[in-house]
Amino acid sequence: METIQVRDRSFAPFLSAEEIQTRVAELGAKISAELQGKRPLFLAVLSGSFIFAADLLRAISIPCEIAFIRVSSYEGTGSTGQVKQLMGLKEDIAGRTVVVVEDIIDSGLTMKELLGILVEKNPAEVKIASLLVKPGNMQVELDIPYRCFDIPNDFIVGYGLDYDGEGRNLPAIYKVTE
Ligand code: IMP
Ligand code: MG
Repeated sequence: METIQVRDRSFAPFLSAEEIQTRVAELGAKISAELQGKRPLFLAVLSGSFIFAADLLRAISIPCEIAFIRVSSYEGTGSTGQVKQLMGLKEDIAGRTVVVVEDIIDSGLTMKELLGILVEKNPAEVKIASLLVKPGNMQVELDIPYRCFDIPNDFIVGYGLDYDGEGRNLPAIYKVTE
């Protein structure tokens, strides 16, 4: 893999498509084993998690459902810390095992706010699944039992993650070079 250009920044290879597929398959197997018999409802957080969710769900071997929600707070390469409303949840989650599917947990503020909204709807339990976690940026306490990679604080792009709207289509993950 080579260095690539997305808008005005260059990005270097970080995680290959093969590495990602391997970890996503392992995570799918782990979730399937642990949530057997619970018929989990996966809530994929749009837009960033759409590719991860598509791959993860195909690695889930137990009966389950998926729905797509939206909660947006991010512009360019810096978090605004301004979390907007949860949109798109039509399913009744009361009494259900819910797995929130995220592309990346950075400060954790988005997820914390989302969990608060979901818990008010009385689910049996809410688990977090995130492709990537930046432990060095975390500003809140979060239990993230399902994660593929813990990564440094660098800004990254690809496999669903964007830089100002571009780069989501890249099959691998790249990190900014400067
Ligand atoms: P948090 O609220 O700081 O945890 O930010 C979470 C959201 O910010 C993610 O769902 C992404 O949409 C976005 N984000 C955080 N870090 C990156 C990154 O390195 N590249 C692209 N998007 C990111
Ligand atoms: Mg996101």
